[in-house]
Amino acid sequence: MSVLITNIGELTTNGQERGAATDPAAALDGFAAIADAALVIEQGRVAWTGPASRAPAADEIVDAEGRAVLPGFVDSHAHLVFAGERGAEFAARMAGQPYRAGGIRSTVAATRQATDGQLRANLRRLAAEMLAQGITTFECKSGYGLTVGDEERSVAIAAEVTPEVTYLGAHVVPPEFDGGPAGYIDLVCGSMLDACAPHARWVDVFCEQGAFSRDEAAAVLAAGIAAGLEARVHANQLTAGPGVQLAVEVGAASADHCSNLTDADVEALATSATVATLLPGVEFSTRHPYPDARRLLDAGATVALATDCNPGSCFTSSMPLCIALAVREMHMTTQEAVWAGTAGGARALRRTDVGHLGIGARADLVMIEGPSHAYLAYRPGVPLVAAVWRAGERVA
Ligand code: NIG
Ligand code: FE
Repeated sequence: MSVLITNIGELTTNGQERGAATDPAAALDGFAAIADAALVIEQGRVAWTGPASRAPAADEIVDAEGRAVLPGFVDSHAHLVFAGERGAEFAARMAGQPYRAGGIRSTVAATRQATDGQLRANLRRLAAEMLAQGITTFECKSGYGLTVGDEERSVAIAAEVTPEVTYLGAHVVPPEFDGGPAGYIDLVCGSMLDACAPHARWVDVFCEQGAFSRDEAAAVLAAGIAAGLEARVHANQLTAGPGVQLAVEVGAASADHCSNLTDADVEALATSATVATLLPGVEFSTRHPYPDARRLLDAGATVALATDCNPGSCFTSSMPLCIALAVREMHMTTQEAVWAGTAGGARALRRTDVGHLGIGARADLVMIEGPSHAYLAYRPGVPLVAAVWRAGERVA
């Protein structure tokens, strides 16, 4: 059963010509688009792309009527296993209160009290919200349980909805360890890791003042890597701390936030395979200065965009919002921002099957109300997603 989507105003492929035949990873190396295009889906994969005038026959035809089609968004950073909400904290922040890492603890208290069913229902609601807005791949972190049992159930429940599960036992030190955080690090690197590693692909740590120091973060990442997990780091969010350097040193797939960088940090990212993942929804929702995306891009770093959807610092599940902020506030071009929210996210998750529409890629597609990718930033706040396919199946 093949499906031909034709009469596509602009098909964003992200470099499929370079990547299709030889190295699938190369398919992710730059924004690319075909005007007046068509695409064929077969067995859940992209089977053909090119000018609509040369499209082959197929079992079923979808007329895009000039709309743009893009790869499904790849959200490489989200915290979706939690209970409760922090709307009052947001309102207080907008009235002048600062954002502090410690706010995480109120979500920890609510999460510990929730049943598995409540956590699962909240997660599934958010995952559905993402999918309806075109996010076809997402990463999901633990980090609001912070006991062995609560972290284990967090990663297990996350693994029901995504393969990109991240163990974030080192999100903050929970209140019961206030007297001795060293004991908490031992737990995170010991029995909590043992319980969580079978359900997770990634290990993450919040390296920040008020969360974990460089040495503590290094210990957590080393233990996770020894347990077979791959590293990613919450780095340089609130201060120009050691997170980025640590991420690069341990070969992390991604250093996330990157809102306060030294020249050495930019250089380290530009000369390594570690992706700089920017989360502009956080700066929007905390009223902090946006990260300097141009400095990173101009230095040659690989930049991804992600939502960081979480109940505290940024409760959006909208990649189009992040793209619009990246363009308007961070001076990324529309092409750079769309690439960063698709192929960049795939890079940050070390995935070569998503984030692009090269031949053989998973047929994850977003069709938008508008003739080009630029509409995602040109029409901010407007629900533009007209249709979504995941692995070739129409899901929205
Ligand atoms: O990515 N930085 C640490 N963690 C989250 C915030 C979580 C929260 O405020 O609940 C973040 O911004
Ligand atoms: Fe985060």
